[in-house]
Amino acid sequence: MSNQSEKNKQHKPVTLNSLQEMKRNGEKIVCLTVYDAGFAAILDNAGVDVFLVGDSLGMVIQGHDTTLPVTVNDMVYHTASVRRGSPHAFIMTDMPFMSYPTVEQALKNAGRVMKKGGAQMVKLEGGGAFVDRVEQLVNHAVPVCAHLGLMPQSVHQTGGYRVQGRDDQAAQTIIDDALAMQKAGAGMLLLECVPAELGKKVTQMLDIPVIGIGAGPDCDAQVLVLQDILGISQGHHPKFHRNFLDGAENIEAAVKSYVQAVRSGEYPAAEHCY
Ligand code: KIV
Repeated sequence: MSNQSEKNKQHKPVTLNSLQEMKRNGEKIVCLTVYDAGFAAILDNAGVDVFLVGDSLGMVIQGHDTTLPVTVNDMVYHTASVRRGSPHAFIMTDMPFMSYPTVEQALKNAGRVMKKGGAQMVKLEGGGAFVDRVEQLVNHAVPVCAHLGLMPQSVHQTGGYRVQGRDDQAAQTIIDDALAMQKAGAGMLLLECVPAELGKKVTQMLDIPVIGIGAGPDCDAQVLVLQDILGISQGHHPKFHRNFLDGAENIEAAVKSYVQAVRSGEYPAAEHCY
């Protein structure tokens, strides 16, 4: 770890502009969740483009059944830890459940995540009803990624972790929401657990990069949960799950294998898609 900051400086900085350029050039973007400094340094060495400090930390770090108990303080704490491990990374941090019910609260809490945590972008779950929050955050220089499809913060409303957008009407709602979010100024979109055909359609329709998780191979970017790619998460594994530590020499090799699989288009394969 002694030469870590020197190594970090050698990387070309990832910015919203460079990610948009990657989309235009058809280069795959690699995103992975991370919650602490030690793993952040490993992701940095492995060449991950976007570090997602996800509220999935409520489940994989804190041991809750859902992401709902996670607080803004938790997100600030983990984002600052990741920032210390990788001073030059492009960090996107989740706005946790009920931290953006109004424009005022969204601005206050996103401001804390950026000022105290060091994030460059916040991610929030929701479609058309959240247009005003996205517009105002962007007006205040807070880059936003909109999360559509399966939204884990809505698990009690949707009745479980289910594939979304399967029928024409549900697919059209996701398309309309995606267009509304882009128009509101979102800089990226994340699509979780939707049929691969819908992932492809949304990715082609939008100018902004689309990150997929269980959304097929045609998204501009892929994201997975770090504990899932290392095979240390408990419970049911969704179809898009793949353990990259299997057959790898160590954790850094596993993360590099994930990076390489996404860049080459080898992951996700047909067996990982809906
Ligand atoms: O919180 C998280 O880790 C996420 C991913 C599952 C995309 O939002």
